[in-house]
Amino acid sequence: MGLFNKKKNVNYISGKEARRISKENRKITNEIEKQRKRKHIPEEEYMTKMRDENNVVEFDNVQTYFFTDVGTAKAVDGVSFDVPKGKTVGIVGESGCGKSVTSLSLMQLVQRPQGQTVGGEIRFQADGKCYSIAKTPTSVMQKLRGNQISMIFQEPMTSLNPVFRIGDQVDEVIKLHNPQMTKEQVKARTIEMLQLVGIANCEGVYRMYPHELSGGMRQRICIAIGLACDPKLIIADEPTTALDVTIQAQILDLLRGLKDRINSSIMLITHDLGVIAEMADYVVVMYAGRVVEKGTVQEIFKNPAHPYTIGLMNSKPVVGKEVERLYSIPGKVPNPINMPNYCYFKDRCEMCVKACDGAYPEEISLSPTHKVSCYRFADQTKKEVK
Ligand SMILES: Nc1ncnc2c1ncn2[C@@H]1O[C@H](COP(=O)(O)OP(=O)(O)OP(=O)(O)O)[C@@H](O)[C@H]1O
Ligand code: SF4
Ligand SMILES: [Mg+2]
Repeated sequence: MGLFNKKKNVNYISGKEARRISKENRKITNEIEKQRKRKHIPEEEYMTKMRDENNVVEFDNVQTYFFTDVGTAKAVDGVSFDVPKGKTVGIVGESGCGKSVTSLSLMQLVQRPQGQTVGGEIRFQADGKCYSIAKTPTSVMQKLRGNQISMIFQEPMTSLNPVFRIGDQVDEVIKLHNPQMTKEQVKARTIEMLQLVGIANCEGVYRMYPHELSGGMRQRICIAIGLACDPKLIIADEPTTALDVTIQAQILDLLRGLKDRINSSIMLITHDLGVIAEMADYVVVMYAGRVVEKGTVQEIFKNPAHPYTIGLMNSKPVVGKEVERLYSIPGKVPNPINMPNYCYFKDRCEMCVKACDGAYPEEISLSPTHKVSCYRFADQTKKEVK
């Protein structure tokens, strides 16, 4: 199947070529959508088994592609990592490396029809069942979202509707997931949630509009909405990027406290290594749609192995350390439509070895939890990483 555009120069394509690609894409995406839109899909089709029962989510070689008119963008290309029960997994990486698309794939919220999870498996465990997310029908997904998985976004103003009062917006979510509740019960739960996220004047805020609140308060409301149904997994995509530092610390404290209270797991997406160091148990480092390194937070911070992770650590300012100029990783990320057939980081890497001319490096285990995809470790998996 002529799935992917192999043309070398993707910066310019003719109208004729774009039409051909678009026709080919439609054929592929229509086929996937037809499968997905079938009525009465039997449960056996989307039920699966976890590799390890202690995980809430397992990403197993997940591939999510965007079939655009200029070619196929492999936004997430073979991503594997686990989110253990009750733990926080931090995902870091440069802008555009596929962090959000990874989490949206888990929610089945990737922009369709051009965006599709075409390979691998995302396993999600809840209520004694294990779902293979990419095969799960939309109607079942709607029940999982909010009830079992909830998402907190970067900019709270865009998640709230400016023309409805705060109370109505929280009520609506609680009502949707608990249709048996009476109006009074719903309101009582909303007030309880507002108290839980540290809103002092709950009754007053219940009647306010989003624009009447500060950024930090709006993010608290979003967290209240996200956690209203005690989800098993909270996905927080840059939850504090739009907030100032003191509010950021409060929101992170709040998230941590709530996570322990309802015993859920957090997938925390951020650019900020400081946030990761403070919050995460495990770290996943992504680069150009792939996981280049993963491990416990101690392993990644004390012993970063991949040159990209080392670069990230060096570009972090350290209080008290005088530097002439803050380090920045040279070069830029390859074009997602035309990825090289060697290590994606090679053109920016300052630590190349001879083997780097070969195919994309395999994942190497440095410890049972610490994995890296880099040729520097090809023959020295047992040696200490400098
Ligand atoms: N709707 C879309 N159509 C085509 N390509 C898309 C679409 N959404 C995302 N992409 C591509 O997928 C890649 C990954 O995007 P993603 O939003 O996951 O990055 P990110 O790591 O979350 O970045 P940021 O840190 O800026 O939020 C990018 O190259 C982007 O161009
Ligand atoms: S495989 Fe080679 S080019 Fe790629 S990150 Fe490792 S050392 Fe650098
Ligand atoms: Mg993002």
